[in-house]
Amino acid sequence: MSRDLLENSGDWVREAMAGTIHDIGKICIPLQVLKKTNPLTRADRGILEHHALAGFVLLGYLLQDHWSFAAQVARDHHERRDGSGYPLGISLRDRMVEIIAACDVYDALLSQRPYRFTPYDNRTALEEITEMAHGGKLSWEVVQALVSHNRRDKPHFGECKVSAEVRGSPPADSLYGVIVKEDAGSSKR
Ligand SMILES: [Fe+2]
Repeated sequence: MSRDLLENSGDWVREAMAGTIHDIGKICIPLQVLKKTNPLTRADRGILEHHALAGFVLLGYLLQDHWSFAAQVARDHHERRDGSGYPLGISLRDRMVEIIAACDVYDALLSQRPYRFTPYDNRTALEEITEMAHGGKLSWEVVQALVSHNRRDKPHFGECKVSAEVRGSPPADSLYGVIVKEDAGSSKR
């Protein structure tokens, strides 16, 4: 194996690893916020959003490189192309980080979460992500690749047509995005 190929393989391994540890900053978030099952307050939301910068600092320190891809992914995986994300509200332009961000959303929708007992079904999850492309939060190519991966015939992403039709609806028990002015009481955990 040539040295170039080995070095390229190393890049892929580093990129794949960055995806798996993107949320490492959550170890800095109090469990009572992380596992809260009733609506978040603005203060809770601020603390929760801090996990992105916390992950950047942690990985930058551990890898002795704040410019490492893993540190960038930890910082930017909640940023969006239209600048509507956090922690910095920058326009996400790195395609690999965007792929990890899209996979993170997809995984969250398909999983049981503290704020939503019922996971999305696969079709509705893909519709939600398609909506993000409509809104300029993700690029169409990334959504096409995800939809293509879900098709039996696995077309090339560039040839994958994504339907704008919305048939599903989010689980009724979802509290995602619900913010209350102040904590109404104890959280159910
Ligand atoms: Fe995250």
